[in-house]
Amino acid sequence: MSIAHKAKSLKEQFLLELEELPLKTHDIKLFKDKFLGRNGEVATLFHHLRDIPGDQRPEAGKILNILREDLQSIFQDKIDKRQLNDIANSTIDLTLPGDPKLIGSLHPLTLILNDINRIFYRLGFSVAYGPEVDTDFYNFEALNIPKDHPARDMQDTFYVDDDIVLRTHTSNSQIHTMLENDPPIKIIAPGRVYRNEDISVRSYCLFHQVEGLYVDKKISFADLKGVLIHFTEEMFGKKVKTRFRPSYFPFTEPSAEMDISCLFCEQSGCNICKYAGWLEILGCGMVDPEVFKSVNYDPEQWSGYAFGMGIERIAMLKYRVEDIRLFYEGDVRFLGQFA
Ligand code: DAH
Repeated sequence: MSIAHKAKSLKEQFLLELEELPLKTHDIKLFKDKFLGRNGEVATLFHHLRDIPGDQRPEAGKILNILREDLQSIFQDKIDKRQLNDIANSTIDLTLPGDPKLIGSLHPLTLILNDINRIFYRLGFSVAYGPEVDTDFYNFEALNIPKDHPARDMQDTFYVDDDIVLRTHTSNSQIHTMLENDPPIKIIAPGRVYRNEDISVRSYCLFHQVEGLYVDKKISFADLKGVLIHFTEEMFGKKVKTRFRPSYFPFTEPSAEMDISCLFCEQSGCNICKYAGWLEILGCGMVDPEVFKSVNYDPEQWSGYAFGMGIERIAMLKYRVEDIRLFYEGDVRFLGQFA
Protein backbone atom coordinates (compact mmCIF):
# COMPACT_ATOMS: atom_id res chain seq x y z
CA MET A 1 0.00 0.00 0.00
CA SER A 2 1.34 3.41 -0.87
CA ILE A 3 1.78 6.08 1.76
CA ALA A 4 -1.09 7.98 0.25
CA HIS A 5 -3.35 4.98 0.72
CA LYS A 6 -2.19 4.39 4.24
CA ALA A 7 -2.83 8.02 5.08
CA LYS A 8 -6.30 7.87 3.56
CA SER A 9 -7.31 4.75 5.46
CA LEU A 10 -5.88 6.09 8.72
CA LYS A 11 -7.96 9.23 8.29
CA GLU A 12 -11.08 7.13 7.67
CA GLN A 13 -10.44 5.09 10.79
CA PHE A 14 -9.77 8.28 12.74
CA LEU A 15 -13.07 9.84 11.63
CA LEU A 16 -14.99 6.70 12.42
CA GLU A 17 -13.64 6.44 15.95
CA LEU A 18 -14.00 10.13 16.51
CA GLU A 19 -17.68 9.85 15.69
CA GLU A 20 -18.17 7.30 18.45
CA LEU A 21 -15.82 8.91 20.93
CA PRO A 22 -17.41 8.91 24.43
CA LEU A 23 -17.68 12.15 26.36
CA LYS A 24 -15.30 11.32 29.14
CA THR A 25 -12.04 13.23 29.36
CA HIS A 26 -10.18 10.00 29.91
CA ASP A 27 -11.38 8.49 26.62
CA ILE A 28 -10.64 11.68 24.76
CA LYS A 29 -7.10 11.57 26.02
CA LEU A 30 -6.65 7.93 25.02
CA PHE A 31 -8.03 8.70 21.58
CA LYS A 32 -5.64 11.57 21.07
CA ASP A 33 -2.70 9.48 22.19
CA LYS A 34 -3.71 6.65 19.90
CA PHE A 35 -3.68 8.77 16.74
CA LEU A 36 -1.64 11.86 17.44
CA GLY A 37 0.54 10.83 20.40
CA ARG A 38 4.30 10.41 20.32
CA ASN A 39 3.96 6.68 19.57
CA GLY A 40 0.57 6.97 17.88
CA GLU A 41 -0.57 5.91 14.42
CA VAL A 42 0.58 9.03 12.64
CA ALA A 43 3.98 8.86 14.28
CA THR A 44 4.30 5.24 13.16
CA LEU A 45 3.69 6.22 9.56
CA PHE A 46 6.40 8.85 9.88
CA HIS A 47 8.62 6.12 11.23
CA HIS A 48 8.15 4.06 8.11
CA LEU A 49 9.35 6.90 5.90
CA ARG A 50 12.84 5.53 6.03
CA ASP A 51 11.71 2.34 4.21
CA ILE A 52 10.65 4.44 1.28
CA PRO A 53 13.10 5.00 -1.59
CA GLY A 54 14.93 8.29 -1.24
CA ASP A 55 13.46 9.94 -4.33
CA GLN A 56 9.87 9.37 -3.18
CA ARG A 57 10.52 10.34 0.40
CA PRO A 58 9.92 14.12 0.15
CA GLU A 59 6.53 13.60 -1.47
CA ALA A 60 5.57 10.99 1.16
CA GLY A 61 6.70 13.29 3.97
CA LYS A 62 4.51 16.03 2.59
CA ILE A 63 1.49 13.70 2.56
CA LEU A 64 2.10 12.75 6.18
CA ASN A 65 2.53 16.35 7.29
CA ILE A 66 -0.76 17.25 5.70
CA LEU A 67 -2.37 14.21 7.34
CA ARG A 68 -1.09 15.20 10.75
CA GLU A 69 -2.28 18.79 10.51
CA ASP A 70 -5.59 17.63 9.13
CA LEU A 71 -6.26 15.19 11.97
CA GLN A 72 -5.15 17.70 14.57
CA SER A 73 -7.49 20.36 13.35
CA ILE A 74 -10.44 17.97 13.02
CA PHE A 75 -9.79 16.78 16.54
CA GLN A 76 -9.58 20.31 17.97
CA ASP A 77 -12.69 21.35 16.14
CA LYS A 78 -14.59 18.44 17.58
CA ILE A 79 -13.44 19.22 21.12
CA ASP A 80 -14.41 22.88 20.80
CA LYS A 81 -17.86 22.00 19.48
CA ARG A 82 -18.32 19.42 22.15
CA GLN A 83 -17.58 21.94 24.87
CA LEU A 84 -20.14 24.30 23.43
CA ASN A 85 -22.59 21.44 23.28
CA ASP A 86 -21.86 20.53 26.86
CA ILE A 87 -22.66 24.05 27.87
CA ALA A 88 -25.79 24.15 25.73
CA ASN A 89 -27.03 20.85 27.16
CA SER A 90 -26.15 21.56 30.75
CA THR A 91 -28.64 22.81 33.31
CA ILE A 92 -26.56 25.94 33.98
CA ASP A 93 -28.34 29.07 32.83
CA LEU A 94 -25.58 31.43 31.78
CA THR A 95 -28.01 34.28 31.32
CA LEU A 96 -28.88 34.42 35.00
CA PRO A 97 -27.38 37.37 36.89
CA GLY A 98 -24.57 36.42 39.31
CA ASP A 99 -24.78 36.38 43.09
CA PRO A 100 -24.22 39.92 44.30
CA LYS A 101 -21.57 40.05 47.02
CA LEU A 102 -22.72 42.30 49.83
CA ILE A 103 -19.97 44.60 51.03
CA GLY A 104 -20.14 45.34 54.74
CA SER A 105 -19.41 48.68 56.34
CA LEU A 106 -18.06 49.86 59.66
CA HIS A 107 -20.61 50.53 62.37
CA PRO A 108 -21.24 54.28 62.86
CA LEU A 109 -19.99 54.04 66.45
CA THR A 110 -16.77 52.47 65.17
CA LEU A 111 -16.41 55.28 62.63
CA ILE A 112 -16.78 57.92 65.34
CA LEU A 113 -14.42 56.09 67.67
CA ASN A 114 -11.84 55.84 64.88
CA ASP A 115 -12.14 59.61 64.39
CA ILE A 116 -11.74 60.24 68.13
CA ASN A 117 -8.72 57.93 68.33
CA ARG A 118 -7.11 59.62 65.35
CA ILE A 119 -7.61 63.13 66.69
CA PHE A 120 -6.19 62.35 70.14
CA TYR A 121 -3.42 60.16 68.77
CA ARG A 122 -2.07 63.20 66.95
CA LEU A 123 -2.06 65.08 70.24
CA GLY A 124 0.11 62.41 71.84
CA PHE A 125 -2.56 60.40 73.68
CA SER A 126 -2.35 56.63 73.77
CA VAL A 127 -5.25 54.24 74.23
CA ALA A 128 -5.92 52.41 77.50
CA TYR A 129 -8.70 50.05 78.54
CA GLY A 130 -10.45 49.24 81.79
CA PRO A 131 -12.74 46.31 82.63
CA GLU A 132 -16.50 46.45 82.04
CA VAL A 133 -17.16 44.46 85.18
CA ASP A 134 -15.36 46.14 88.03
CA THR A 135 -15.30 46.63 91.76
CA ASP A 136 -16.99 49.43 93.64
CA PHE A 137 -13.52 50.82 94.39
CA TYR A 138 -12.58 51.52 90.76
CA ASN A 139 -15.99 52.66 89.59
CA PHE A 140 -16.85 54.81 92.65
CA GLU A 141 -14.68 54.91 95.78
CA ALA A 142 -11.36 55.88 94.17
CA LEU A 143 -13.15 58.48 92.05
CA ASN A 144 -14.21 60.26 95.21
CA ILE A 145 -17.74 58.86 95.17
CA PRO A 146 -18.05 57.19 98.60
CA LYS A 147 -21.02 55.01 99.55
CA ASP A 148 -24.06 57.15 100.40
CA HIS A 149 -22.63 60.01 98.35
CA PRO A 150 -25.54 61.66 96.54
CA ALA A 151 -23.56 61.52 93.30
CA ARG A 152 -24.20 57.77 93.15
CA ASP A 153 -27.78 58.65 92.27
CA MET A 154 -26.54 60.40 89.12
CA GLN A 155 -25.90 56.97 87.61
CA ASP A 156 -28.29 54.02 87.99
CA THR A 157 -26.00 51.11 88.60
CA PHE A 158 -26.31 47.43 87.72
CA TYR A 159 -24.90 45.57 90.72
CA VAL A 160 -23.46 42.07 90.23
CA ASP A 161 -23.13 41.79 94.01
CA ASP A 162 -22.45 44.18 96.91
CA ASP A 163 -18.96 44.97 95.70
CA ILE A 164 -19.07 44.33 91.95
CA VAL A 165 -20.75 46.50 89.35
CA LEU A 166 -21.12 46.82 85.60
CA ARG A 167 -19.14 50.02 85.19
CA THR A 168 -21.34 53.07 84.84
CA HIS A 169 -18.65 55.11 83.10
CA THR A 170 -15.19 54.73 81.58
CA SER A 171 -13.76 56.81 84.44
CA ASN A 172 -12.77 53.52 86.12
CA SER A 173 -10.00 53.30 83.47
CA GLN A 174 -8.41 56.40 85.03
CA ILE A 175 -7.89 54.55 88.31
CA HIS A 176 -6.60 51.35 86.67
CA THR A 177 -4.15 53.31 84.55
CA MET A 178 -2.84 55.44 87.40
CA LEU A 179 -2.45 52.50 89.79
CA GLU A 180 -0.49 50.58 87.18
CA ASN A 181 1.70 53.45 85.91
CA ASP A 182 3.73 56.30 87.26
CA PRO A 183 2.99 59.79 85.96
CA PRO A 184 3.09 61.41 83.45
CA ILE A 185 -0.03 59.83 81.94
CA LYS A 186 -1.70 60.81 78.69
CA ILE A 187 -4.47 58.44 77.68
CA ILE A 188 -7.90 58.10 76.22
CA ALA A 189 -9.93 55.08 77.29
CA PRO A 190 -12.88 54.06 75.14
CA GLY A 191 -15.37 51.36 76.02
CA ARG A 192 -18.85 50.18 76.83
CA VAL A 193 -20.69 51.31 79.96
CA TYR A 194 -23.96 50.21 81.54
CA ARG A 195 -26.80 52.00 83.27
CA ASN A 196 -30.07 50.77 84.59
CA GLU A 197 -32.17 53.30 82.72
CA ASP A 198 -35.48 53.07 80.94
CA ILE A 199 -34.98 52.43 77.27
CA SER A 200 -36.12 55.28 75.04
CA VAL A 201 -35.06 57.29 72.00
CA ARG A 202 -32.53 59.06 74.23
CA SER A 203 -31.20 56.35 76.52
CA TYR A 204 -30.29 52.70 76.48
CA CYS A 205 -29.13 50.23 79.12
CA LEU A 206 -25.65 50.24 77.61
CA PHE A 207 -23.73 52.80 75.60
CA HIS A 208 -20.16 53.86 74.88
CA GLN A 209 -17.89 56.50 76.30
CA VAL A 210 -14.40 57.79 75.83
CA GLU A 211 -12.48 58.94 78.87
CA GLY A 212 -9.49 61.25 78.65
CA LEU A 213 -6.80 61.74 81.27
CA TYR A 214 -3.66 63.85 81.23
CA VAL A 215 -1.46 63.95 84.33
CA ASP A 216 1.82 65.84 84.40
CA LYS A 217 3.45 68.78 86.14
CA LYS A 218 1.70 72.17 85.92
CA ILE A 219 -1.28 71.16 83.80
CA SER A 220 -3.87 73.92 83.68
CA PHE A 221 -7.51 74.35 82.77
CA ALA A 222 -6.32 76.34 79.74
CA ASP A 223 -4.57 73.16 78.46
CA LEU A 224 -7.84 71.28 78.87
CA LYS A 225 -9.83 73.91 76.98
CA GLY A 226 -7.28 74.04 74.18
CA VAL A 227 -7.39 70.28 73.62
CA LEU A 228 -11.17 70.03 73.75
CA ILE A 229 -11.73 72.98 71.41
CA HIS A 230 -9.26 71.45 68.97
CA PHE A 231 -11.13 68.15 69.27
CA THR A 232 -14.55 69.66 68.48
CA GLU A 233 -13.21 71.57 65.51
CA GLU A 234 -11.67 68.40 64.11
CA MET A 235 -14.82 66.43 64.76
CA PHE A 236 -17.52 68.90 63.71
CA GLY A 237 -15.68 71.45 61.59
CA LYS A 238 -14.08 74.83 62.25
CA LYS A 239 -17.38 76.68 62.18
CA VAL A 240 -18.62 75.09 65.39
CA LYS A 241 -18.62 77.28 68.50
CA THR A 242 -17.91 75.96 71.98
CA ARG A 243 -18.61 77.10 75.51
CA PHE A 244 -17.75 75.77 78.96
CA ARG A 245 -20.29 75.83 81.78
CA PRO A 246 -19.37 75.26 85.42
CA SER A 247 -20.64 71.89 86.60
CA TYR A 248 -20.05 69.27 89.26
CA PHE A 249 -18.33 65.89 89.17
CA PRO A 250 -16.91 64.29 92.32
CA PHE A 251 -13.64 63.35 90.58
CA THR A 252 -12.80 66.80 89.18
CA GLU A 253 -12.46 70.22 90.75
CA PRO A 254 -13.27 72.58 89.19
CA SER A 255 -15.62 70.76 86.81
CA ALA A 256 -17.28 71.90 83.63
CA GLU A 257 -19.50 70.76 80.83
CA MET A 258 -18.74 71.67 77.27
CA ASP A 259 -21.45 72.67 74.79
CA ILE A 260 -21.20 73.11 71.05
CA SER A 261 -23.34 75.43 68.97
CA CYS A 262 -26.39 73.57 67.62
CA LEU A 263 -25.46 71.91 64.33
CA PHE A 264 -29.09 71.62 63.30
CA CYS A 265 -30.40 75.16 63.51
CA GLU A 266 -27.11 77.07 63.73
CA GLN A 267 -28.43 78.63 66.90
CA SER A 268 -31.64 80.01 65.47
CA GLY A 269 -33.55 77.62 67.76
CA CYS A 270 -34.93 74.12 67.12
CA ASN A 271 -36.39 71.31 69.17
CA ILE A 272 -33.12 69.33 69.15
CA CYS A 273 -31.32 72.04 71.13
CA LYS A 274 -34.60 72.87 72.88
CA TYR A 275 -34.34 76.40 71.50
CA ALA A 276 -31.16 77.00 73.51
CA GLY A 277 -28.85 77.04 70.49
CA TRP A 278 -26.36 74.85 72.39
CA LEU A 279 -25.83 71.08 72.70
CA GLU A 280 -24.00 69.52 75.63
CA ILE A 281 -21.32 67.07 74.51
CA LEU A 282 -19.01 66.24 77.40
CA GLY A 283 -17.99 66.60 81.02
CA CYS A 284 -14.51 67.59 82.12
CA GLY A 285 -12.40 69.19 84.82
CA MET A 286 -9.14 69.21 86.77
CA VAL A 287 -8.43 65.92 88.52
CA ASP A 288 -9.54 66.22 92.15
CA PRO A 289 -6.66 65.87 94.69
CA GLU A 290 -8.73 63.17 96.42
CA VAL A 291 -8.46 61.02 93.27
CA PHE A 292 -4.67 61.48 93.21
CA LYS A 293 -4.53 60.40 96.84
CA SER A 294 -6.44 57.20 96.17
CA VAL A 295 -3.87 56.17 93.52
CA ASN A 296 -0.88 57.31 95.62
CA TYR A 297 0.08 60.25 93.42
CA ASP A 298 1.27 63.32 95.33
CA PRO A 299 -1.28 66.10 94.55
CA GLU A 300 1.33 68.73 95.47
CA GLN A 301 3.57 67.48 92.70
CA TRP A 302 1.13 66.37 90.00
CA SER A 303 -1.83 68.00 88.33
CA GLY A 304 -4.05 66.90 85.51
CA TYR A 305 -7.28 67.12 83.63
CA ALA A 306 -9.89 64.56 82.72
CA PHE A 307 -12.87 64.46 80.42
CA GLY A 308 -15.55 61.99 79.41
CA MET A 309 -17.94 61.90 76.49
CA GLY A 310 -20.63 59.61 75.08
CA ILE A 311 -19.82 58.16 71.67
CA GLU A 312 -23.50 57.69 70.77
CA ARG A 313 -24.13 61.33 71.57
CA ILE A 314 -21.37 62.45 69.18
CA ALA A 315 -22.57 60.00 66.50
CA MET A 316 -26.17 61.17 66.84
CA LEU A 317 -25.12 64.79 66.39
CA LYS A 318 -22.68 64.15 63.58
CA TYR A 319 -24.89 61.76 61.58
CA ARG A 320 -28.22 63.25 62.68
CA VAL A 321 -29.56 60.04 64.16
CA GLU A 322 -32.63 60.68 66.26
CA ASP A 323 -33.12 57.33 68.00
CA ILE A 324 -30.25 55.85 70.03
CA ARG A 325 -31.73 52.33 69.74
CA LEU A 326 -30.85 52.22 66.03
CA PHE A 327 -27.21 51.71 67.01
CA TYR A 328 -27.93 48.36 68.63
CA GLU A 329 -30.52 46.79 66.34
CA GLY A 330 -28.14 45.71 63.56
CA ASP A 331 -30.63 46.73 60.86
CA VAL A 332 -28.69 46.79 57.55
CA ARG A 333 -30.96 49.50 56.16
CA PHE A 334 -29.59 51.75 58.89
CA LEU A 335 -26.01 50.46 58.91
CA GLY A 336 -25.71 50.51 55.10
CA GLN A 337 -26.06 54.30 55.12
CA PHE A 338 -22.59 54.61 56.65
CA ALA A 339 -20.78 52.63 53.92
N1 DAH B 1 -17.92 60.00 84.09
C1 DAH B 1 -18.81 61.07 83.69
C2 DAH B 1 -20.14 60.50 83.26
O1 DAH B 1 -20.21 59.35 82.98
C3 DAH B 1 -18.22 61.85 82.55
C4 DAH B 1 -17.03 62.62 82.96
C5 DAH B 1 -17.16 63.91 83.46
C6 DAH B 1 -15.77 62.06 82.93
C7 DAH B 1 -16.09 64.64 83.84
C8 DAH B 1 -14.65 62.80 83.32
C9 DAH B 1 -14.85 64.09 83.78
O2 DAH B 1 -13.44 62.31 83.29
O3 DAH B 1 -13.77 64.82 84.18
O4 DAH B 1 -21.09 61.21 83.19
